[in-house]
Amino acid sequence: MANSVLNKELEKCFSPTMLNGLELKNRFIKAGTFEGMTHGGIPSDRLRDFHLGIAKGGVAMTTLGYCASEADGRLNEDMLYMHEGIAPQLRSMIDSLHQAGTKVSGQLSHCGGFSKNAELEKRRPQGPSFALNSLGVAKGMFFADAMKLSDIPKFVQTYHDAAAFMKKVGFDAIEIHFGHGYGLCQFISPKTNKRKDQYGGSLHNRMRLSLECLEAVRKAVGDDFPVIGKISLSEGVRGGLSYDDAVEISRLLDKGGIDGIVTSGGTSTMNPMMLFRGDSVLKPMLKAEPSFLMRTILRMAGPTMFKNYPYEELYFLEHAKRVRDAVQCNMIYVGGASTNESFTTLMREGFDFIQLGRSLLSDPDLPIQAKQQVNYKSRCVHCNECVATIEHPKGIHCTRF
Ligand SMILES: Cc1cc2nc3c(=O)[nH]c(=O)nc-3n(C[C@H](O)[C@H](O)[C@H](O)COP(=O)(O)O)c2cc1C
Repeated sequence: MANSVLNKELEKCFSPTMLNGLELKNRFIKAGTFEGMTHGGIPSDRLRDFHLGIAKGGVAMTTLGYCASEADGRLNEDMLYMHEGIAPQLRSMIDSLHQAGTKVSGQLSHCGGFSKNAELEKRRPQGPSFALNSLGVAKGMFFADAMKLSDIPKFVQTYHDAAAFMKKVGFDAIEIHFGHGYGLCQFISPKTNKRKDQYGGSLHNRMRLSLECLEAVRKAVGDDFPVIGKISLSEGVRGGLSYDDAVEISRLLDKGGIDGIVTSGGTSTMNPMMLFRGDSVLKPMLKAEPSFLMRTILRMAGPTMFKNYPYEELYFLEHAKRVRDAVQCNMIYVGGASTNESFTTLMREGFDFIQLGRSLLSDPDLPIQAKQQVNYKSRCVHCNECVATIEHPKGIHCTRF
């Protein structure tokens, strides 16, 4: 169908815009989805081709999932950490993506006390407080240690150095991960942060490390480089972060100079279904898990960890709107946006960008198709089998199409 029949919100969705000086050809951004295509911690040709497929499909910017700030910030040995050793591969991949007409963001992350990385330099992963490291159990890494106060400046420095490196190798933007139960989120959450020093206690104290990392990243990349952040609107667990906390967290990040907030929710560690909705990932994860011990743990934790959240379009919209009303920075919606009707709603509600995860795995050319078909609807059925392909030899993929 001709472009001229698109409503004015969809026209806006497909028109160029700016994100802190970066020109983006439309409002669609590929959400960070750890690709599982970096065997041995090295970006592969498959990773480049995966993002090239997404780029050719028409998004304005793609996001390289999980770029750890340091080697010990990886959940496992096959994840990327930002260092000179992989600069040639990253540069070449980013150049190819630029040639395909797409900008590239990198999701800057740290696993904190949640890791099964057998190459850890420190004896145990380090989080805000001593805790069980459920992910590491099968590798005999049962616990996470509390980060010492004297280790914190080094941790912040890793964000600075990683950001400087990312800018140098050609990334156009950085997305700091403040959510999903990873390192910074573990500090923000009262559920996982039991510290008695200035990094624990009140929400302001629990946000201190995140704000220091944001400041360090900003210092590394300068004022005119897009830095966005992904948060969990709520962790959806008793004693964890709440929707009210998300408003305050967003205000603090906004005041701290963030250019945009991506409003996700849940945690990979305690409540993953909150961030996906739809069919439980437990069954496909059990099928994919090679370790008998981990399968037993998953079976035992299953009913409490994998809660039932039926899928609905725009499942974070109402809570994301509360953040929208509290901040000046760009609002980047993520979570169940997969139809032209939803894109129209998001533009009407004043969101600046739309991040797409699963629907781009089933339809990499979603933006092209959505522009051509007024009533576009993604083929993704939220079976969530793609989530369990993270450790598949081929890397992530849609198992249906
Ligand atoms: C296979 C897969 C891997 C993911 N990996 C990450 C990740 O590394 N970091 C992250 O913040 N979110 C990750 N996500 C979550 C997505 O970024 C997104 O928040 C979620 O899928 C909801 O958006 P959607 O409804 O458009 O899929 C992943 C999602 C999928 C399906």
